[in-house]
Amino acid sequence: MPPPIVVTTAFEARAACTAARNEGQRVGLVPTMGALHDGHVALVREAARHADFVVCSIFVNPTQFGPHEDLARYPRDLEGDVRKLEGVAVVFAPQVTAMYPVGDETRVDVGRLAEHLCGPFRPGHFAGVATVVTKLFAVVGPCTAVFGEKDFQQLAIVRRVATDLLLPVNVVGHPIVREADGLAMSSRNAYLTPVDRPKALALSRGLFEARRAFDDGERRAGVLRALVHTLVARVASSVDYVTVADAEALVPLADDATVTTRVVIAVACRVGTTRLLDNIVLA
Ligand code: PAJ
Repeated sequence: MPPPIVVTTAFEARAACTAARNEGQRVGLVPTMGALHDGHVALVREAARHADFVVCSIFVNPTQFGPHEDLARYPRDLEGDVRKLEGVAVVFAPQVTAMYPVGDETRVDVGRLAEHLCGPFRPGHFAGVATVVTKLFAVVGPCTAVFGEKDFQQLAIVRRVATDLLLPVNVVGHPIVREADGLAMSSRNAYLTPVDRPKALALSRGLFEARRAFDDGERRAGVLRALVHTLVARVASSVDYVTVADAEALVPLADDATVTTRVVIAVACRVGTTRLLDNIVLA
């Protein structure tokens, strides 16, 4: 398998995808911000199940970061990333000006799916994600695009964007890839200090406990939520939310509600200074 070709302009990326399609190949896309780990690699493998020509984009998208977030220190290692992308035909690694032309002022507005969970804690974040993903879809053209369930709300919003804007993209979700001890893989795990790292296990442990309770018949939303919250609150420096939400509409269930539909329990918190996300779907 030859190493991927790295391109930096929309023109080159589009030309490569168009040429592949003209040869009858199906195109796949895996959008990332780099600092790749086995979760990203699993998405690439999933894309290869749907496509003959896989493009991986690596772009730390400034519009999805808030003013006090980690845009400047987000880990960047293009060479190391490219080495991990076996089976990928093209790596699209644009500069900011290639994705946001001079004078840029257009954004993709997102609706109710961004109202809860991470939305209130990261104003503008999902509009930034929706905007850059729409641009990537415009560059790559008709394709199957793979996103991780690790960012459950992002996946739901991207599906909505593709449907609402009539984009010729088949959006496919992939389950969360975890470390052997349960921690959900994330580029931001690199920020965890040796003291933080074991504490970070509280998220997956709490979620797995909630799943056990659910499998044993527990349906009270507040009880399921508390199982996660108790473990997480013990180690977190701050908890943004622990929420039981309808898995389609992403509307939170009240603590006194009973779970009757497919739900997601989602958690966002800080361990030390690292913001961590995790979730589990109960059905
Ligand atoms: P990034 O955090 O690099 O993630 C890229 C893709 O990998 C996303 O679809 C994310 O859900 C998925 N992913 C990350 N960790 C995962 C894990 N442990 N298991 C499975 N999938 C995982 O998400 C983004 O970048 C950006 O917001 C992006 C969509 C690229 C837009 O800028």
